Amino acid sequence: MSFNLQNIVRQHILSLAPYSSARDEYTGKEGIFLDANENPLGSVTPEDWNRYPDPYQLEIKDKIAPIKGCRPSQIFLGNGSDEPIDLIIRLTCEPKEDNVIILPPTYGMYEVSANVNNIEIQKIPLTTDYQLNTEKIIASINPKTKLIFICSPNNPTGNLIDREAIIQIIENFQQGIVIIDEAYNDFSDEPSFVPALDKFQNVMVLQTFSKAWGLASLRLGMAFGNEELIKLLNKIKYPYNINGLTQRALLENISNIDFMKDSVKILNQNREVLISELEKLQIVTKIFPSDANFLLIKFTEAKKIFDYLISQKVIVRDRSKVILCDDSLRISVGSEEENHILLHLLKQYK
Ligand SMILES: Cc1ncc(COP(=O)(O)O)c(C=O)c1O
Repeated sequence: MSFNLQNIVRQHILSLAPYSSARDEYTGKEGIFLDANENPLGSVTPEDWNRYPDPYQLEIKDKIAPIKGCRPSQIFLGNGSDEPIDLIIRLTCEPKEDNVIILPPTYGMYEVSANVNNIEIQKIPLTTDYQLNTEKIIASINPKTKLIFICSPNNPTGNLIDREAIIQIIENFQQGIVIIDEAYNDFSDEPSFVPALDKFQNVMVLQTFSKAWGLASLRLGMAFGNEELIKLLNKIKYPYNINGLTQRALLENISNIDFMKDSVKILNQNREVLISELEKLQIVTKIFPSDANFLLIKFTEAKKIFDYLISQKVIVRDRSKVILCDDSLRISVGSEEENHILLHLLKQYK
């Protein structure tokens, strides 16, 4: 079977007429704008925000494309990468009819978005070393399977998923789309799938400005895919999904890529120091290898240690109830000082 997006997308969306915004009809920057019922006098804020922003964020995409090794037309920007997670489900899955495959333990929003959209979920757990159970995944694909979500480096386990195994899934799933969530790719040396998108038509890659770039509050996520897919995502998104403040902040600062690279270097070093110190503690029974800015750590009594840390105003993530993560806490790599305080508290724990 060869990949044909027209067969994967919900049929009514193919024929749907999208909202045409005022700024779709005239894209110039100069003129007297009487087309969008804005306030021509300015804003309540000292800076002016009275004009609607670019609905397709073209200037930003021109800047992102060379950084990521793709064409601007292969980029979709979302209100966090959570937006394209929801949009790809809504684009392809017929409620109560189609299904998606997710691979727990993994990022929680794939399941939440599928549930919100009333889409059946097939869960194929990772192996005990947190890799893909490729045979089971391929065996569970049925004619109604539209999407497979793979997260690499995986959240909450931190490890990279074997590239060859991902490619095996891609090659065996021409009837749908493989979503490769690379939210933590900046922290690893693993090549992204973005430059390979022309080869893998049935892939959508997710990345985000929330982690290594330090822009979680701006809410800016990226989806990369073939041009036809990106056009369809644009067709169903809210017209001005990326607000003007976010667009301006990114445009003015994206050249400051050294901050991102330095952050990665420092946080990866901090992670290694944290590992070597945690290894000395009796209450730590296992530290899982990580290619991300967090560690999954198995403790003797995870819940009690979680509560103890909270009582000391150090907040980590309790993953002990998650499949294959029993007795485990997920801890983000902090600054040197934050890690020092964390280690000090853990050493004092009795
Ligand atoms: C694997 C993964 N994907 C996506 C996201 C969402 O990121 P964003 O802030 O871009 O919505 C997260 C956030 O924690 C994540 O861990």
